[in-house]
Order: sequence, then structure tokens, then C-alpha cells
Amino acid sequence: MAGSRETPVGFADLVVRHGRVFTLAGFSRKPARGPGMERLGLIDNGYVAIRGDRIVAVGEADRLPASLLGPETQWLDAGGRAVIPGFVDPHTHLVYAGSRAGEFAQRLRGTSYLEILAAGGGILSTVAATRAAAEEELTEQAARRLGRFLLAGTTTVEVKSGYGLSREAELKQLRVVRRLRQMLPLDLVPTFLGAHAVPMEYRDHRQAYVDLLVDDMLPAVAAEGLAEFADVFCEEGVFSPTETRRILSRARQLGLGLKLHADELVAAVGGAELAAELGATSADHLLYASEEGLAAMARAGAVAVLLPGTAFFLRTGRYAPARRMLELGLPVALATDHNPGTCTLESMAEVMGLAALEMGLTPAEALAAATINAAHAVGRQAETGSLEPGKRADLLVLDGEGPEDIVYRFGTNLVDQVVAQGRLAASAGRLLKGGTDR
Ligand code: NIG
Ligand code: FE
Repeated sequence: MAGSRETPVGFADLVVRHGRVFTLAGFSRKPARGPGMERLGLIDNGYVAIRGDRIVAVGEADRLPASLLGPETQWLDAGGRAVIPGFVDPHTHLVYAGSRAGEFAQRLRGTSYLEILAAGGGILSTVAATRAAAEEELTEQAARRLGRFLLAGTTTVEVKSGYGLSREAELKQLRVVRRLRQMLPLDLVPTFLGAHAVPMEYRDHRQAYVDLLVDDMLPAVAAEGLAEFADVFCEEGVFSPTETRRILSRARQLGLGLKLHADELVAAVGGAELAAELGATSADHLLYASEEGLAAMARAGAVAVLLPGTAFFLRTGRYAPARRMLELGLPVALATDHNPGTCTLESMAEVMGLAALEMGLTPAEALAAATINAAHAVGRQAETGSLEPGKRADLLVLDGEGPEDIVYRFGTNLVDQVVAQGRLAASAGRLLKGGTDR
């Protein structure tokens, strides 16, 4: 049984008590793998004490140290319900303008995603809309989406650029992320995805676009400190493994962490192998990844980020081989992939449901994949993803007893209370003003 652990003196500002506390403790250095993904560190009748934006102690409710309780300490009673870490969504394309509902209807009639992209639609239609939008408009639209993410319990979100595909428009998207981070109590992790597609104006000289990425855009992004990661859409008809290697090697030189959209849509193009070779933090999608590629990722310590919402929404009839990945010892994480083209989901609980129903993850594995392992996928493992002293106070009280209920009640938002960065940010399905401004 987990004992009480606390960091030094001072009163708590907020104590969440009488919860079934799923701490997910013990995986802050290395992600959960294999059977470890079901070790959720449950404290049956537990408390979490918070000071400022930090967790200061976690333990059994009847052993809550009196020394933590001052005249100003506030209580949040979980009433025997589940308390879990705030969700971490490690893969989104959140900043964009326009809608692709028309293209969606076309896909329902049978046109494929890559056919639409090759004809200048898909990502490229969102690029046109995003280039035309002002920074304020993009900020406002993304902030509304993030409000819904927060109501669904997500407190940390990775956000990619990739709908600009020019130096100015990519920087604009990343500046929007920086602004949003100052406006809202969510932690945002910015990723440069200039290599999301070859823009129209470079269609006939794609090499020049790769040069632009390597010689101009990446250094500009790094110089302004606008991104923590760089990502490439490594896919048949998009960027080849050779181009991907060149782009990501430059990103690594510039001090960025690496991610790949790998082996997603058509075949194993060697994305998983490349992720291992380059020391990427994560490789994402992996529907078609080869067995050797997955084994290489496991050896290299890369996180496999799975996006079952995308497979569902694209009606690929195929999902990433999650159970095989677990057997190979790969740390598995989940993400929404929220974007206007291939997946409009905003809720990590819904993604957990799909992961269980379509990929065979257990509810416990899905929770580890949506919290601590997702934190590893964005380099935030020391900061969030579990309920342990010293970590940021990002937590949820659910209308349910644990991860089984999240999966079983698929489609219903069971998130009742959201504490983000130490403050109550949402309650009973409503955003709270004090907790959502900064
Ligand atoms: O992860 N695969 C590439 N990027 C997104 C799709 C983005 C879009 O279609 O706008 C994805 O599926
Ligand atoms: Fe994506």
C-alpha cells in the first residue's frame, strides 16, 4: 500500500480528499511498459494536497498530516469517486482556420485521403485558410477548442504547426501557441511541423522546399525559441525517409526534440526504424510499422503514440498493433490527433474508449497511455502525468470509480472537476472564470 509522502513545511492551499486516487506513481523517469502499464498506484481512500501550482503530498485520507492544514486550506471532497492525473494529449494540430466538412462528405462517398491531398485539397486547403487568417482569429478559435479540451479533462496539449508551410505562416501558428499558453491554465508543448506537406508553390521543385525547411525555417523557429519539437509527415507521397532524415537531423542539431508521423496510411516506409535511428522521443500512428521497426523503437526507448481516433475517422479498417507493441516492451501513449481533416475528436477519454474497443488495450493500460506515458511523449514526465509530490497539480475528479468507467461509458464526459496548475478550472461541465484566466 502506498504510504504518505510529502515535501516540506507550509500549509496546503487545496486538499482533494476521499478519492480513489490513481497516482500512476513510479514512472517519472522511465515510462510504463508491458505489465507495468496496469500498475496505477491506487490509494483507495486517498488525498492529494496542493500548494500553489504543485502537489505537496499524496496519501491515505486518514493519515493526512495536520501540519498541512491551515485556516485558508480549501477542501474538495471526491466522495469516493476516482481522482486521476489530468490527461496529456501528446499529438494535436490545434491551430487552424476553416472547415473540411465538404471533403469529409467526399471521403464518405469513397475518395481517399491521399487522393484529396494529391489534388491540392486536404492539408493544403487548411493551409490556404490558415495563411489567410489573422493571428487574433487563430488564437480565438484555438482558445475555444482548448476550453473544450479542458472540460474533457486534458491539462497538457502538444500543438503542431504545419498549416502555414511558409516561414511567416509557420511562425504565426507557433506564436499563437505561445499566446495561448499565456492566456490559459493549460500547458502547451509547441512542435514545428513545417514538413507536413509540400506547399502548392513548391509542387514542381520539392527539393527547394526541403532546403527551405532546413536552411531557413528550422533555424528561424529555433532562434525565436518557438518550438520544443520538430515533426515530419513521413509517408508515401508526402516526405520520404531520406528527406525526413535530413530535416530531423538538422532539427536535432538545433536542439529540438524529434517526432515523426510514421507508417500511417499506406505501407511500412521505414518510419519506425528512422525514429529509432535518430533517437526520436516518439513515433506516432504506426499502423503499418514493421516488426523490426517496432523492436528497434523499443530498444531506442522511443514512445509509440497511437491515434485510434484517426484510424476510426478515416475508416481505414485497421488499427496500430497495440498488443504486439506491448509485448515488444514499447511504451505506448494515446493522443487525439485533433485536426480538421483526419480526426476531430477533442477528448482523451473518447480516445481511451476507442483504444480499448478497437485495439484491445485494457482500461488500466489506456489510462497509463493517456497520462504518464503521454507525458513522456512530450518530455513533460517530470512535470505532469502522475500524482506525486513535486509535480504540477493537474488532476481530475471523475463521476466514476476508475478507468473501467471511462471506457464503459464511452462518449459520455465523466470529468466532473478539473484542477489545472493548482486551481479549480472546471466544475460540473462548466469552465470557471477564475481558473481559466491567468
Ligand atoms: O496526423 N497525417 C498527417 N497529419 C494529420 C492530418 C492533418 C490534416 O489532414 O489536416 C494526421 O492525421
Ligand atoms: Fe497528426
